[in-house]
Amino acid sequence: MEKPLQLCYPVHTLDRRELLPAGSCLTPETMTDVARSARMEMFSPMRLMEYGTVAADLRSYVEQPPYSHIFSKPARTKAVFDSLQQVEFIQPLLDIYGYFKAHDPYTYRHILTVFALSQLLAQELFEDRKALSREFAAPSCHDFGKACVPLAICNKSTPLNEHERMQLSHHAAAGYVLLSYFLKDSNHPAAITARDHHERCDGSGYPRGIALRNRNVEIVAVSDVFDALISPRPYRPSSYDLRTALEEVTVLALKGAISADVVRALISCNRKDQLHYTDCTLSHEQRGTPPPDNLYRGVTPCQYSPAGDPEGDRISAIPGKNNKESGASGRPPT
Ligand SMILES: [Fe+2]
Ligand SMILES: [Fe+2]
Repeated sequence: MEKPLQLCYPVHTLDRRELLPAGSCLTPETMTDVARSARMEMFSPMRLMEYGTVAADLRSYVEQPPYSHIFSKPARTKAVFDSLQQVEFIQPLLDIYGYFKAHDPYTYRHILTVFALSQLLAQELFEDRKALSREFAAPSCHDFGKACVPLAICNKSTPLNEHERMQLSHHAAAGYVLLSYFLKDSNHPAAITARDHHERCDGSGYPRGIALRNRNVEIVAVSDVFDALISPRPYRPSSYDLRTALEEVTVLALKGAISADVVRALISCNRKDQLHYTDCTLSHEQRGTPPPDNLYRGVTPCQYSPAGDPEGDRISAIPGKNNKESGASGRPPT
């Protein structure tokens, strides 16, 4: 039987109500209690795309490079936005978008672009996306647990130390608890996605180090890494270009860390010829160039260990941490 997750830090709502203290074991019984404890609260759902400036912000993200290239096919883009229109949340969850927009704009942009990219990939990968309506919402709240991480860490522009990395990695378990509570279901796809989106197919991820076998979460995991590479980050003035980012995720797929099918779908979305994803091949060839001012090295498998960086594409730059893998992807640290 799998060991239950244990919280290193407390989980609280935005209004500082503690849902679980540090040290809690997230057993099925505990999580059932968490989900039940919200039942007395009445919230009516609202459409995410009608909340604040979410719709306009997401439109502007996908209409500008680099996303404008990925979303260059009008029919596909329309289908994605039609799906996104269906997503509804209760007010306390919508408030988390408002919190990120106000205090952590990188995460705000990231959760929306991962949302759109995951829908695009899901349309490539699933014949009948309509059957998965409960999964529509999951990518958009995969990092909600970062609301329990100090903003100074989320927005830090210099390398994280060991303690800060642990605090940031808390966001996976924290998101699981928060979403189980507000969605009143610890098995809701959004709660599961928040908990498992840093797990890897070969068991090299966190927080549990399980072998990821959930296609919806695999889609979010790939979108998460890819978006982190091609988007602005507080610790990296320039982003990866699309070609280099595709090469980086291809390396991870070839090593078995992330889903090869999902990466093929990502390659298909980046091609002009609309080749079906099953006809796209993964190549070992690496000709791209990572940004010269990257504080962290390119994506390498070691970053997915619990000791590696817990969020996005960065990796410890602390001497002695992970550096034995230096140049594992053919590139020295920068
Ligand atoms: Fe995350
Ligand atoms: Fe993320």
